[in-house]
Amino acid sequence: MKIWYSILSLCILICAWACKPEPAETDVRSPEEISLVPKPQNLKLKEDKPFIWTAKTNIYFSEDLKQEAAYLQDLFQSGLGSKNEAETLSAERQKDRGVVLKLGYISENPEAYQLSINSQRILIEGASPAGVMRAIQSLRLLLIPEFFEKNKRERWAIPSLEITDYPAFKHRGMLLDVCRHFFDEETVKKYIDLLALYKMNVLHLHLTEDQGWRIESENWPKLNSISSWRTEEDGSRYGGYYTKDQLKQLVAYAAERHIRIIPEIELPGHSQAALAAYPQFSCLGAKADIEVVNDWGVFKEIYCAGNDSTFLFLQSILEEVMEIFPSEYIHIGGDEAPKFRWENCAKCQHRMQKEGLHDERELQSYFIQRIEKFLNKNGRKLIGWDEILEGGLSANATLQSWRGIEGGIAAARSGHYAIMSPTSHCYLDYGLERIDLQKIYNFDPIPEELSPEERAYILGAECNMWTEHVPNAENLDYKVNPRMQGIAEVLWTYPQQRDFPEFFNRMQGQYPILEALDVNYGPEALGASIYAEVYPDSNKVFIGAKRSLELLNLEVLWNGAKGPWGFDLLESGTLQAQAYKNGKAYGDSIKQKFAFHKALARETKYKSKFEKWYSAGGELALVNGTLGSINFRDGQWQGFSGKDVELQIDLGSLQDIQSVSSNFYHYNNAWIFRPELYEVAYSADGKQWQLLGSAKPQLKAEERGQHLVSLKVSALTKARYIKIRAKSILKVPDWHEAAGSEAWVFIDEVIVE
Ligand code: ACM
Ligand code: ZN
Repeated sequence: MKIWYSILSLCILICAWACKPEPAETDVRSPEEISLVPKPQNLKLKEDKPFIWTAKTNIYFSEDLKQEAAYLQDLFQSGLGSKNEAETLSAERQKDRGVVLKLGYISENPEAYQLSINSQRILIEGASPAGVMRAIQSLRLLLIPEFFEKNKRERWAIPSLEITDYPAFKHRGMLLDVCRHFFDEETVKKYIDLLALYKMNVLHLHLTEDQGWRIESENWPKLNSISSWRTEEDGSRYGGYYTKDQLKQLVAYAAERHIRIIPEIELPGHSQAALAAYPQFSCLGAKADIEVVNDWGVFKEIYCAGNDSTFLFLQSILEEVMEIFPSEYIHIGGDEAPKFRWENCAKCQHRMQKEGLHDERELQSYFIQRIEKFLNKNGRKLIGWDEILEGGLSANATLQSWRGIEGGIAAARSGHYAIMSPTSHCYLDYGLERIDLQKIYNFDPIPEELSPEERAYILGAECNMWTEHVPNAENLDYKVNPRMQGIAEVLWTYPQQRDFPEFFNRMQGQYPILEALDVNYGPEALGASIYAEVYPDSNKVFIGAKRSLELLNLEVLWNGAKGPWGFDLLESGTLQAQAYKNGKAYGDSIKQKFAFHKALARETKYKSKFEKWYSAGGELALVNGTLGSINFRDGQWQGFSGKDVELQIDLGSLQDIQSVSSNFYHYNNAWIFRPELYEVAYSADGKQWQLLGSAKPQLKAEERGQHLVSLKVSALTKARYIKIRAKSILKVPDWHEAAGSEAWVFIDEVIVE
């Protein structure tokens, strides 16, 4: 009995081994699930079965692609748990089953590639090693999301298809500000990987600022012991810097992925942290008491342009920078340098006289050109923000256009290269109410005004991640993703027809990958938004909430009670809206205050003109019932730079008046000051005017931080016409870090009751 039992067990055992069933069908993306971002220029599915990648899959690479082969080995090692063999491609291997990496794809575009997959082979051919790397990233995105979790499996399937592909622009970048908030090496590496995955090719590292110096200097050690650290309001110390070794490792890590790191060393402005350590290079001299800034804004302590030693100091720093970064380009900032110190500095004034410079803008140009000559002598090229146009652009400089696209246009027209980063489309620190995924997706890097020859000077674009309000890596993920992917797609596929719903759907396929990569991505859009439509003919304002995407649901509350999505404004109150996606809250809950009053939708005539960046929607913005919030970029604030606010409203007929009031914004960090005086006049016929009264703010101009200041004039009268004047302080005062610049006044509404 016992022996029979043993024979039976043995049979079962043998059968279990010999009759081992085929492994279950390996998960593969179906044609509908293939969702590459950026979209390849050409993609054709093949009838064949998928390629099955196992530990036995061999990689064959041509001589120059050792590094790309090693990168591919590493990728699959984390998916398989063991390393694929890789060997140089020989004639006899040309036809073997496996993965082949080769050069020789014919294209003038070095990042062009062809990726051909069938059940037997994966063939990657690049126009250069960079093209091969871009192909590898396409290959990654063809795998199921579990691959990105370093989820060990024995088999990974890749659908059979053929891609031929190339990028539209050669400069596809993201700026990361590591100064306002500091991000460790691991986070920077994570971003290098994300940029690589979406085929971007530039990481612009913003390394020096008023609030912190983030690069090791051996020549000037106080840049690290002093300039890298700030004392926060609560007394805590904040800061850090990357050592030269760390930076070299980042450069190498990026280079393996064919990403260039462009370092930015800011001058002559945004340099207060450096001057805190070495005040001898400021206009105030060695004894000046300068601290690393612990607040946000633009600051007046800038490098002294009259001192030759300032240039020697900067050159010796740039020598260290060039030793770390092989980048052809060195970014020197050049933006937002208040000229107040230079105007009041004997040395700077002497320099201007000696060099025949007419004003401080020309002195800035002298400063930049002197640095440019030094960089050029060392075989490097200079990039600067569009302020480097002022006072004359140097011969070989490349311009990064941020205050709109005009800088880029001017550069291209004068035969200079330009990189586009306008605040209108490329600023990832801006909220989704200003720049959502669709807005980014509709970004046109090439201004229409340019001729075909001039267009060739637009190298590409960057999305800018300034980090004043990005305290940690989770928040960084939330703000960068998925907007960076939107820019990546634009820069790769331009000028293809853009179909946002199609891109939006394709992007949904990226979220499981981003989740697997531990990226805390944010929403594509605000979710809910609130609007007001002004009808001057009927003197009505229609208000409502809308969803940014069809697939969202919306819940709308008016003064706390559930209500319709839109209605005529007939009383003052608060409208609140929340969007939902698949039953989950999507984006923030939005609140908007409205005022119902006698000037609603009435004709306004401006005596002074608001600025186009802060138009709040135009000439009816101050009679649309919509009040501004504590976010000065909420689109409700109308801004006037360097002038008073002056306008007149026609109420249509003689009315009883009790009061006229307006809210003003005060945030002197951003050069926005409450008015000194609010004056209201009234008239029955528009000719004879009388003063209704005036009001002065309690809040002092010196007050820091964000404030709403309400100014009101109360008096009983009858009037048809109302005139207001909000008197600006015009120039940023001497005590301020941006002394001498034009001051802003921000107003949201003229409420007549
Ligand atoms: C900038 O945003 N100041 C370049
Ligand atoms: Zn000076």
